[in-house]
Amino acid sequence: MSTIPVIVDCDPGHDDVVALWLALGNPTIDVRGVTTVGGNVPLPLTTMNARVALTVAGVNDVPIAAGASGPLERELETAEWIHGENGLGGPELPTPTMTLDERSAQQLMVDVIEASTEPIAIVATGPITNVAILLRDRPDLMSRIREVVWMGGSTERGNATPYAEFNALVDPEALALVLESGVKFTMVGLNVTHQALLTAEVRERIIAIGNNTSRFSDDLMRFFCDTNETVYGMPDGPLHDPVAVAVLAAPETVEVVHVRLDVETKGTHTAGATSVDLHGLLDREPNAYVAVGLDVDGFWNAVVDAIKTLD
Ligand code: RIB
Ligand code: CA
Repeated sequence: MSTIPVIVDCDPGHDDVVALWLALGNPTIDVRGVTTVGGNVPLPLTTMNARVALTVAGVNDVPIAAGASGPLERELETAEWIHGENGLGGPELPTPTMTLDERSAQQLMVDVIEASTEPIAIVATGPITNVAILLRDRPDLMSRIREVVWMGGSTERGNATPYAEFNALVDPEALALVLESGVKFTMVGLNVTHQALLTAEVRERIIAIGNNTSRFSDDLMRFFCDTNETVYGMPDGPLHDPVAVAVLAAPETVEVVHVRLDVETKGTHTAGATSVDLHGLLDREPNAYVAVGLDVDGFWNAVVDAIKTLD
């Protein structure tokens, strides 16, 4: 089976952890590197949490490097109200066996891309700052980047402000820069990730796997569901980030359309809002693929099958 070489750029975060597990456990994906960004919690914690995610899964041969501590221009906004003070509220966190690569995220990305005989896909599940820096500073590598798939934005309303999804709100300038770069870009927004709900049945399926990763998942999912119920009245927490990985790992489960996508960077009340022209009203060339549908059963089957392959 041919595999897709991937870098996962993330801000763990409960759902980022499951995104990492889906990427690491799916046979179609070959994770060449993990990079971290300040987002859900500050960079030292998202980086520690990425190391924890790989340690829990028994993965020790994928480099992890820390990237941008905050957005290109703005102050970092974090999301402890969903993820807890340490970013992975719920389970007791093991001491990571995964060491931190001494390179920066940008250097790791460059090294992975330059060492690959085929173009690298980047799946970003946090504020897209690291990807923006890579594309800004190394436009010469564009032809060696297969595509960027990002969990963020929405075709509808936001979850961090009424109009902005969290990842887009944290660094809208980075998103604008990535869209401007011309890289093949897929946005997986709340309109789809709100279908990836951690129902009791799904949680039972994951826990029934019975390995170390699934046991760790139990407290992780319970905390995430509790905070999503408290904040949004959604007791079956929407597991956003793995849906972005599914675009590559199980593309048959995610329906996308090719449309014009822009991001608001100036609005007083709308900064971070993603403008998705689903009906061609602006008469502007499509510049992105946007997820509009999810095969929920197929998605969860991919997640469960991936976790089964881990420790
Ligand atoms: O809005 C949801 C996104 O913001 C997810 O990626 C979550 O982990 C947070 O980063
Ligand atoms: Ca995330």
